[in-house]
Amino acid sequence: MLTLDNVTKVYKTGTFGGESLPAVRGASFEIRPGEVTSLIGESGSGKSTLGKMILRLTPVTSGTISFEGTDVAGLKGKRLREYYRHVQGVFQDPFSSYNPVFRADRVFATIKRSYFPSVSNSEWHGRVEASLESVGLNPVDVLDKFTHQLSGGQLQRILIARALLLEIKILVADEIISMIDASTRVDVLNLLANLKSRGLGVLFITHDLSLGNYISERTIILRRGVVVEMGATQKVFDNPQHDYTKMLLTAVPQLHKKWGAGLAPELEAMGVTSEGEGRPGRYSRSSMHPLAAMHAWKGHRAQVVAAALETAASADRTDTYLRTHEEVPPLVEVEEDHFVVTSAGAE
Ligand SMILES: Nc1ncnc2c1ncn2[C@@H]1O[C@H](COP(=O)(O)OP(=O)(O)O)[C@@H](O)[C@H]1O
Ligand SMILES: [Mg+2]
Repeated sequence: MLTLDNVTKVYKTGTFGGESLPAVRGASFEIRPGEVTSLIGESGSGKSTLGKMILRLTPVTSGTISFEGTDVAGLKGKRLREYYRHVQGVFQDPFSSYNPVFRADRVFATIKRSYFPSVSNSEWHGRVEASLESVGLNPVDVLDKFTHQLSGGQLQRILIARALLLEIKILVADEIISMIDASTRVDVLNLLANLKSRGLGVLFITHDLSLGNYISERTIILRRGVVVEMGATQKVFDNPQHDYTKMLLTAVPQLHKKWGAGLAPELEAMGVTSEGEGRPGRYSRSSMHPLAAMHAWKGHRAQVVAAALETAASADRTDTYLRTHEEVPPLVEVEEDHFVVTSAGAE
């Protein structure tokens, strides 16, 4: 659907642009519908540059990026607008996508003007609300807020809601999990899984192997601008071919392993709140995947993952949980109606 063929990006640097920095070299891959492809690489490996080229935010130096058979480099005006109707991005820092003096509803107003001028206001409001609800936001909580009054996770979900109004086919998600808090992370991961099941193709850019493994069907490993390995996620993680991939995987001995289905039923039964501390979640118990949860609280000792009140906040649940998960034993403290959870040894 979206294909990169031998794509290279050389940035001109230095005072007069006299130096060149090759950020991406000869990258070829596809983003397919109904699939999450993770693009994994260390900082500076060229991931965001690839994302930006796909989104036409920076031109390719050579090679082609084509969408449904058309080279996107030449798109202008109406045809470029059509491209953005189908291909959208959500970035690491959602604050940078917003002008802080505007309220959140403005991002919806701008796409109405560009893409849906003939839709009536009342119909449009209905669509915006439905879209916000589909990403787990309550429209009245966010629409009249200024962007600094919203959390990073809320902003990212607003951007995803906005993209959904455009009936996108491809979403480029660049490090979107990194800056949001633990409980929201799980929401966003669940949301991506949901988008995928609705036929969207997602390019999930991350430096985090375990996250890439958890979320994607296919994996691309990028090293210094070069794709060194690519394939079914399971294959890449279980049987890496490239020395660099092997090295990356040995650096994270446990977390890259996929937890088998059914391995963590008790954890799954816990549920998470979307809003953090102490409040029972509106997320169904089955909506939290164990590895997502594990990941969510890794390194977040202070953050509270609340349990669904009526089911999980009991000691015997916790016991079961601890027994089931000897592999990565977490520290679980039960405090009345919520859990405080951390990985053992993590701060
Ligand atoms: N606008 C730019 N001008 C010059 N160099 C850039 C620019 N953007 C990124 N780079 C350089 O390109 C390389 C790849 O950067 P980037 O794509 O942001 O990597 P990643 O997202 O994997 O961390 C880095 O060396 C970075 O410094
Ligand atoms: Mg980046």
